[in-house]
Amino acid sequence: MTYTNTAYKAPVSLKVNKDTEKVNLIFRGQGVILFTATENCSLTFCDVSGNPGMKVKFTEQGISVNLEPSNEPLVTDNSKGLVNQKGAYYWFSLDAQNQRLYAGIGEARKETAVYSYQFPAEQNKKLFLESLVSVSAEHLHITRILRDPITRSIPLLVKNTEELTMDSLASGMYLPKANLSLTSQQLYDCISGKQFILNTPDFPEFTQAIEHSIATPGKWCYEVLKQKSTEFNKDKPNEKETYLRITLGENNGESPGIPYVMEIWPVGHYSPIHNHGNADAVIRVLNGAINVSLFPFLSGDAVEPFAKADFKKEDITWISPELNQVHQLKNLDTNKDTCITIQCYMYENNDKRHYDYFDYLDESGVKQQFEPNSDMDFVEFKKTIKKEWEEFQGEKPKEVIPQRKPWYPPYWC
Ligand SMILES: [Fe+2]
Repeated sequence: MTYTNTAYKAPVSLKVNKDTEKVNLIFRGQGVILFTATENCSLTFCDVSGNPGMKVKFTEQGISVNLEPSNEPLVTDNSKGLVNQKGAYYWFSLDAQNQRLYAGIGEARKETAVYSYQFPAEQNKKLFLESLVSVSAEHLHITRILRDPITRSIPLLVKNTEELTMDSLASGMYLPKANLSLTSQQLYDCISGKQFILNTPDFPEFTQAIEHSIATPGKWCYEVLKQKSTEFNKDKPNEKETYLRITLGENNGESPGIPYVMEIWPVGHYSPIHNHGNADAVIRVLNGAINVSLFPFLSGDAVEPFAKADFKKEDITWISPELNQVHQLKNLDTNKDTCITIQCYMYENNDKRHYDYFDYLDESGVKQQFEPNSDMDFVEFKKTIKKEWEEFQGEKPKEVIPQRKPWYPPYWC
């Protein structure tokens, strides 16, 4: 499962730092090669003696694969290959177990595949594919090798052990929490508990009070959202492209910004398209619902999302350095409630860079850096909203308490 990234002895993902023409697969006959390219290029898979067994060519016209040395083509109806969009990268997946090949653009996953080939069962190419142990590159730059091949679509919803049924595991609808990276499992454990809720006994109307603060001029949420209208575009205020970031705790140097952020999304509000500094993240919806568009890569050029998903209250989704990394969030206009999420971020242990920014695309499609900031600390925020709510309750006209009428007629007195 390529969507996990834990530091096992045989790593599930290897970063290729130097410009190299040949790399070994982590396991024979399987894996994904990720690379960048700006001109026609090829990958040649070789056996242990260095003899070529399969050649993959990427051109603007498409992707073609030939067996070597016979030059026999593996024909499919693919017609998409190299693209001109800024930020594009590519991947090729070799899968001896299922005797299947995939290739695609952007995040390595089935949803971005533009080439697929299934060897006919009668050919039985398993042994041949397992003999391939290395790959040579021509006119491209290999950036990463994944241990496991691409197989099925990756679930976006995470479920913990006690929620998983045999049916849900078989259908592939949910990602078991145990399949998250160890870093994400840690984040998941911190925010998935039953007590991790907004309306607590000390302030049971917290959600209602936040809605009131958003809707009322002069109140904290309303005013801060207004001030933030130029956050992502200094020259063109856009109140819809705003959300509030309420942080929990401190930045301990292990995450882009403070690791725990409660984000508040009024109806119709959205984020720019952005990535997450190659960090792991777990997101839980605490109130309302959020729509997430996922993109194959961050580009200044127009790139369509490969998936859109709605997450409702209690849903938990995830981000890894390799997957779900580029997205745009929106509380749809058709929703009724403010969406409140808890987002937590942390770098993987093997992240040597700690890139402290989320890159985003401005209105003109130019990549900009967003430094994950805080609009207010959670403790202070809760106090502020509580005070506003109590003031509001005090301003409301007192309920008229009906006077008890005497049961006897006045003339009896
Ligand atoms: Fe995000």
